[in-house]
Amino acid sequence: MPTGIVTGASRGLGLALVGALADRGWRLVVDARGADALRAATCGLDGVVAIPGDVADPAHRRDLIDAAGERIDLLVNNASVLGPSPQPALAGYPLVELRRVYEANVFAPLALTQLALPRMPDGAVVVNVTSDAAVEAYPGWGGYGSSKAALDQVTAILAAEDPDLRVYSVDPGDMRTQMHQEAFPGEDISDRPPPDDSVPGLLALIDRPPPSGRYRVADLQAAPR
Ligand SMILES: NC(=O)c1ccc[n+]([C@@H]2O[C@H](COP(=O)([O-])OP(=O)(O)OC[C@H]3O[C@@H](n4cnc5c(N)ncnc54)[C@H](OP(=O)(O)O)[C@@H]3O)[C@@H](O)[C@H]2O)c1
Repeated sequence: MPTGIVTGASRGLGLALVGALADRGWRLVVDARGADALRAATCGLDGVVAIPGDVADPAHRRDLIDAAGERIDLLVNNASVLGPSPQPALAGYPLVELRRVYEANVFAPLALTQLALPRMPDGAVVVNVTSDAAVEAYPGWGGYGSSKAALDQVTAILAAEDPDLRVYSVDPGDMRTQMHQEAFPGEDISDRPPPDDSVPGLLALIDRPPPSGRYRVADLQAAPR
């Protein structure tokens, strides 16, 4: 049975992906900070071990790796924070908040990858969930967007340094989730698609791994099988 770690799995894209992978027989170690929500979301899923905690906490990251065991076939760094809502312009962005965003969105995925790599066989897959805000200069998105840009470059260099792995950053597209609502406070986001719609694109990376690189779910789902 293949084993994976998926961070940020109590709701949104992480939960949708974990449900699909559990259906396919994956053994999964998952987390989120909110323990009750994580347990409620995952208790009915076979093969899913829920470990509440913050990916920015080194001891929690160690717990995730230990729970996964000696062989890790998949690491999905999905957990992420937006930062303050509404998002401040960079001119006044509180640096203490920016550090928290980078801790969760850049340092934590790299640190978890560093711990997982010795247990990942050739051909194993690392998926770092990114955003179009990494490449588009949207006013107000400087904190979150620059963290995802850093994550993209971390991903690309990890891939160059370890050609035996499959290392991806993947932009899932807009999704109707709590984070998206925080990004657009007070706005009606009911026209955005649910996170389940982005799962087939992620599964394409896992099932039929293309060369390492940066992908958009929209392109993966449009590609012929
Ligand atoms: N929604 C969009 O339109 C959109 C667009 C592009 C990219 N993305 C990316 O897609 C990914 C999933 O986002 P989403 O929209 O599904 O967000 P979401 O619905 O807000 O879910 C985020 C998940 O991550 C967990 N989480 C957040 N910070 C964490 C931390 N420090 N440690 C552990 N778990 C943490 C949350 O639980 P707790 O709060 O309980 O910890 C929750 O389970 C993120 O990487 C995001 O940047 C989203």
